[in-house]
Amino acid sequence: MVEGITGQLADVRAILEPRLPAAPRADAGAGDQSDRVPATLDHLPYLYRDWGWPPQADGENERALALVERVFDNRCPGRTLVMGAGACRLAYDLYQRHRDAELLVMDLDPVLFSAAHAVTHGETLTVREANLEMGDLDQAAKEWVLSAPQGPVDDARFHFLVADAVDPPLAPGSFDTVLTPWFIDQGPEDVRDLISTLHRMLKPGGRWVNLGPLKYSLNVPFSRRFAREELFDLAERAGFRAGPWQSESGPYLVSQLNGRGKTEWVLAFSATKLVSNEPGTGLRNDDPPPWLLFRHLPIPTFEGQALFWSEASMVRMVVSSIDGRTTLDDIAVMVAERARQPDIPMSQVRTAVRECLQNVHPACRAGG
Ligand SMILES: C[S@@+](CC[C@H](N)C(=O)[O-])C[C@H]1O[C@@H](n2cnc3c(N)ncnc32)[C@H](O)[C@@H]1O
Repeated sequence: MVEGITGQLADVRAILEPRLPAAPRADAGAGDQSDRVPATLDHLPYLYRDWGWPPQADGENERALALVERVFDNRCPGRTLVMGAGACRLAYDLYQRHRDAELLVMDLDPVLFSAAHAVTHGETLTVREANLEMGDLDQAAKEWVLSAPQGPVDDARFHFLVADAVDPPLAPGSFDTVLTPWFIDQGPEDVRDLISTLHRMLKPGGRWVNLGPLKYSLNVPFSRRFAREELFDLAERAGFRAGPWQSESGPYLVSQLNGRGKTEWVLAFSATKLVSNEPGTGLRNDDPPPWLLFRHLPIPTFEGQALFWSEASMVRMVVSSIDGRTTLDDIAVMVAERARQPDIPMSQVRTAVRECLQNVHPACRAGG
């Protein structure tokens, strides 16, 4: 067991080494960055599953691809952004199946992405699966050989980007499809913020395609752990038409070394970005306005705005920024710049701006 685990760490080091700077940076280890890096060793099973396991008629990789294709009606996804792409097998399979598609895969995990980059560029890697919970003696460790089953990708059509997918450094309206595989409940603290990003990234008529459970990270408050119906309701308020969708239960990361793993409920759906800018069909009178929930929608001006006065300069600033075009995000950026406290996460600034708007904007007060 000890040999297996130390061997596994050596494999991870070998994956990362070519990407690391020759000399560690002077500020390495400073700050709290390490807290924010995903638990990369927990993610290793994605590597064995995506690139090590042999093909199976109803295997986990095959089921994932089939579900996505079903809600997407087997169309060509065009220019596609894959958020939290992990070890990238689903993206690779879509690439192989749709020769006209161009994919940009995005993730924060350096191990998964380094390995995925090597494998999709024709390299063969070996990574040991090792565990401390063996039933039979021969379950202590297994060496997986990772390779891309249909050969390397073309760099002109398959791109890697290490970046935060909730705030991607990409031009708006660039994609025909955004795919969120096992991501919406793990990546963002507030899925409404991600919905705004998705809306912004897609071209009008573009598709958001999702696959995965709604099993939110522990740091997501209960009030933001949205169920399917609530998620669809939010998507419609943000300017999407939700559907078709499908859900099913199936095996998830069931180890082929020791047979342990989970059965998981997953939801697959596609939602189309509406061409018109009119979000929020079927809103009730007491519903909060969509521009308060989502950060990509323009905030309307209100009667008496020019005469508005508050002792708090931030409140005055928020109100004076409303011109019928600015969004919650635009105002949050201005507030953050004014506050000059770079450590405050933008999600907190947005919450503060939301609270402020809720107190001062008549449309919010009317809506309760
Ligand atoms: C549950 S895993 C799913 C991986 C892959 N999509 C799959 O289906 O196998 C979630 C992935 O999201 C990535 N991730 C989490 N937060 C992220 C963020 N803010 N931006 C980009 N990737 C993120 C993690 O590194 C991890 O690879």
